[in-house]
Amino acid sequence: MPWDKFANIEMAFTFGDVILLPGKTQVEPSEVDLSTRLGEIGLHVPILSSPMDTVTEAEMAIAVARMGALGVLHRNCTVEEQVNMAKAVKRAESFIIRDVVTVTPDDTVEAARAIMKEMNISGLPVVAEGRLVGIITRRDVYFAEDGNQVVKEVMTKDVITVSPDITPQEARKIMSRYKIEKLPVVDDSGRLVGLITAKDVFYRESHPFATRDEEGRLRVAAAISPFDLERAKTLEPYVDLLVTDVAHFHNENVMRAAKRITEEVNVPLVAGNIGTYEAAEEIITRLDVVGLRVGIASGSICTTGEVTGVAAPTLFAVAKASEAVAKYGSDVAVIADGGVRGPAEAAKAFAAGADAVMLGFALAGTKESPGSPLIVGGKMYKVYRGMGSPSARSKRFALDRYSKPSKDIAEGIEGLVPYRGDVATVIDKFVAGLKAAFGYVGAANIGEMKERARIALLSSVGAREIAPHDVKPMEKFSA
Ligand code: XMP
Repeated sequence: MPWDKFANIEMAFTFGDVILLPGKTQVEPSEVDLSTRLGEIGLHVPILSSPMDTVTEAEMAIAVARMGALGVLHRNCTVEEQVNMAKAVKRAESFIIRDVVTVTPDDTVEAARAIMKEMNISGLPVVAEGRLVGIITRRDVYFAEDGNQVVKEVMTKDVITVSPDITPQEARKIMSRYKIEKLPVVDDSGRLVGLITAKDVFYRESHPFATRDEEGRLRVAAAISPFDLERAKTLEPYVDLLVTDVAHFHNENVMRAAKRITEEVNVPLVAGNIGTYEAAEEIITRLDVVGLRVGIASGSICTTGEVTGVAAPTLFAVAKASEAVAKYGSDVAVIADGGVRGPAEAAKAFAAGADAVMLGFALAGTKESPGSPLIVGGKMYKVYRGMGSPSARSKRFALDRYSKPSKDIAEGIEGLVPYRGDVATVIDKFVAGLKAAFGYVGAANIGEMKERARIALLSSVGAREIAPHDVKPMEKFSA
């Protein structure tokens, strides 16, 4: 009956509607552990960067993985471009480099110098018939009498090598004992199988919490259309996770297509976006996925709710999806996506049951997002656009035949966001804010946040009171 819809009306709470209540605590913010899991992938920082073409390409994915989070490469490009981004992330750091650039003993010093310059590397193993016979460094090249000398005349012949089962700690010790920057890896028969560089060992130490795969390379995820099995298969060797990128996953055609991906592609899948208990329940019971991307229409660039009158605000949707996850005792991760501007919204999302948050707006203004900053009225900005905005749609439809519109409306906008400098600083501040929130609630980790947090309703008058009020902020007085 129509009136029942009103009599039993649901409250679709949004981040701005509620606050977290402080609880008795024994937890100092510095002790909070924010680590989380997406299937087998562990993250020290429970953040994913949105697959949007003004947020996540290789540079962002590398930077966030170094911070312990995970980048999801956008798909508003050809599959080759998306694969190249994934490869760039995988090449950015690896403990043992496998595709080593080498020279032969009879190459000229000039040729070695040219390779070093072009590839921006400082030393090359010298290989004859697959076996390591020496190493030539920038210094050897620099001090060579002339470029026509051959490599074997200037190379170092007594090379210190290691076997493939070396650990990063052992490699570091050997490098500092012998003061060397390159450590060739050879097998039992003296064949070169890899190279360890001081730079990569150093990166590991300066980013101990980075998100890495079994080979020590940074992890990366990629967005796909659920209908694009071909793209998913092409990405399979290069990515750690696939994330469906569809506004309404709870659709029979979408779910069938996604099921095929889970059956035919050997990479874990995150499904979304969804906004209801029923959607979460159906995915958990029908599909083999490691995560749910949850929230419809809360995004800072979204017009879906305004245009269609349909929305599942992220906080509400997260609580509903988490309910289903709990009911089925599932370990599928709930990812709060849309409207998470900073740690306050993230803390509320965790309190409602999220395991991670996905950020668009919060990362779009950083140095590592695609595109250069613009100066408008003396201030720096970067462009940020919804993937359903007219300009993003016009590009996607040109490139991706699977994304032909089944609807003829734009569901996003394009705009400017303030430039915020490097993403490492932004994530550091985000994490500090989040840990402070956990401290107030008395939660030492995400599991405790879900259990202990108490949520209270705030009126719009109250919302003004808990923000700075009545005082004109100092920066408004500066030029
Ligand atoms: P924030 O608030 O972090 O939200 O900027 C990012 C999320 O918004 C979604 N998204 C869209 N939603 N129209 C929409 O309705 C769009 O054009 C659009 N583009 C992105 C997406 O889930 C993203 O992670």
